[in-house]
Amino acid sequence: MVSVTDLQKEHPLFNERHEVPDRVSKGSHISSMAQYEKYYRESIENPESFWQQRANELLTWTKPFTKVFSGGFENGDVKWFEDGELNVSYNCLDRHAERTPDKVAIIWEGDSPNQVEHITYKQALEQTCRLANAMKELGVKRGESVCIYLPNCPTAAYAMLACARIGAPHSVVFAGFSADSLADRIRDSKSKLIITADQSTRGGKVIPLKQAVDDAVKKSDSVQHVLLLQNTGGKVHFEKGRDVWLHEAMEKQSTTCQPESMNAEDPLFYLYTSGSTGTPKGLVHTQGGYLLYAALTHLWVFDYRENDIYACVADVGWITGHSYIVYGPLCNGATTFMFEGLPTLPDAGRYWDMVQRHKITQFYTAPTAIRTLMKFDDTFVKRYDVTSLRVLGSVGEPINPESYNEVVGDKKCSIVDTYWQTESGGHLLTPLPGATPQKAGSASFAFFGIVPEGNSVSGVLCISKPWPGITRTIFNDHERYMKTYLNVYKNKYFTGDGVWKDQDGYHWITGRVDDVINVSGHRIGTSEVEGALVTHNKCAEAACVGVPHDVKGQAIFAYVILKENVEETPELLAELKGAVRTHIGPFATPDFVVIAPGLPKTRSGKIMRRLLRKIAAGELDQLGDTSTLADPHVLDLIIEKVKSLK
Ligand code: WT7
Repeated sequence: MVSVTDLQKEHPLFNERHEVPDRVSKGSHISSMAQYEKYYRESIENPESFWQQRANELLTWTKPFTKVFSGGFENGDVKWFEDGELNVSYNCLDRHAERTPDKVAIIWEGDSPNQVEHITYKQALEQTCRLANAMKELGVKRGESVCIYLPNCPTAAYAMLACARIGAPHSVVFAGFSADSLADRIRDSKSKLIITADQSTRGGKVIPLKQAVDDAVKKSDSVQHVLLLQNTGGKVHFEKGRDVWLHEAMEKQSTTCQPESMNAEDPLFYLYTSGSTGTPKGLVHTQGGYLLYAALTHLWVFDYRENDIYACVADVGWITGHSYIVYGPLCNGATTFMFEGLPTLPDAGRYWDMVQRHKITQFYTAPTAIRTLMKFDDTFVKRYDVTSLRVLGSVGEPINPESYNEVVGDKKCSIVDTYWQTESGGHLLTPLPGATPQKAGSASFAFFGIVPEGNSVSGVLCISKPWPGITRTIFNDHERYMKTYLNVYKNKYFTGDGVWKDQDGYHWITGRVDDVINVSGHRIGTSEVEGALVTHNKCAEAACVGVPHDVKGQAIFAYVILKENVEETPELLAELKGAVRTHIGPFATPDFVVIAPGLPKTRSGKIMRRLLRKIAAGELDQLGDTSTLADPHVLDLIIEKVKSLK
């Protein structure tokens, strides 16, 4: 973990603030620190009136709420707008389709820059209704979950909104997950229906989604139907009675579908995420509070305005896509841009080419993508006109914004380094583009209603008041929810991250304090990777840690103990990596697999990962206290082995 003194030493800009450019501040929603502070105070001192006003401004309710907030962290029974009713798809589609039917809701680009679609609000509504009707015909009832395993395409958005329309919580599984991971998630959420595609293509590579679904369905007994999008037209297995072509099912449906009036606290979706231990957790987000929080953060953090073309280049399979491709922007009636391709295809100018062609005003991406692109020379940016941009957003890890701002923004944009998590539903700490002077690498201040607490010097980040977007529980496991988030520090929500607050009140996230690894902004649980490695019949034990990586942020470094009399061969190393690919997905593949002679354990048998992290990072002078090791000699053997590989 980077200590603040290191940051201070290495960062000449640590105390330097970049003032907000006038062109961004002018006419912005929150246009000064004074205004930020005034609203912030109100949001903390009078949360009921603050959120009541926003909930009535931004959302349309079928039954108005009379109560803003109840419950708390002590019992994990947080509720927002609990007697109110609304429909999320109505809020995201119908009301805009009524007012501005021809406004573009979604711009989509595929692998190739020639694949572009513009979908109006009217069209998006009609498609969503058809799909909702098709799902009903297949027997999906209010309250029953639907699994979505699709590429980052408009159908994924229709599927999510169609679920919301009929009150079926969706569980979107990122299409980069393997059949095994998909099966785990289907089993846990007990989905009866899966919506998927024949295949997808990314970077010209074909990803066999349907094949993964076929394999996953064999390992789960809840699935009755598979709705199949014909995407590439590639040949796939089709199981009569179970599989249904999506276009055939939708064709015959009506373009209208009565939206269900949902209670604000009914679940809107489950989204699985990794923790430091155990299986992935199905985080539950609700209808009212989540939608409000996604919409308000989208509006104010990106300073969204009526004619903007807003782009978030994440995937709908992650929370960023849920909140900031689909729900936030569409709730605000925005034009949201969806990208299924790669930032380096056809070349490293793809993002900026898209910015120029679509006149994008806000661009939201991850530091890992920026680091990848900055390895290429500036001309990949400079050959395009990107002056439409006002706000450059970043998420996933701290960003060193110099290159992003100087090269892309030409210092005429604001950078919003947004810190948040799958659990939080929306931004927790973030600058506001028209108000907050930026410090490079700091997520700066709390969003409205958020009360961050670390101790004054350095510590773990907790949040001491519930906000509307917080996950309410882990699906089927409230006890684990309490244990993971709310019972760690009394009456507080524990984020799992370290934080430091400087003399100007800016927050600096120092990284996870648990065993979660953040690879290219993807959150990966060490225990999951270890679990995948030990499925290999020659692996006896495994321990994984994160090591610093200049593009990915962190890379996975796996220590593997082989079973007796097994020899280390290059083929075996490849097979071990392959085991992770098959059990989790390609994005979780370890960069390094080291066959270790043993693992450093305490006398009670606990692996000392701290030591493994230091050895992997080559910081041998910082091993610290090793006196609790059961067998100190093992450490020398591991060090020797790792050194021999470098
Ligand atoms: C973890 C959450 C929220 C969508 C992206 C990932 C890290 C996230 C930042 C940031 C420093 C960050 C934290 C957090 N993180 N944003 N701006 N600065 N760290 O969501 O998969 O739930 O991961 O990502 O460690 O806990 P996620």
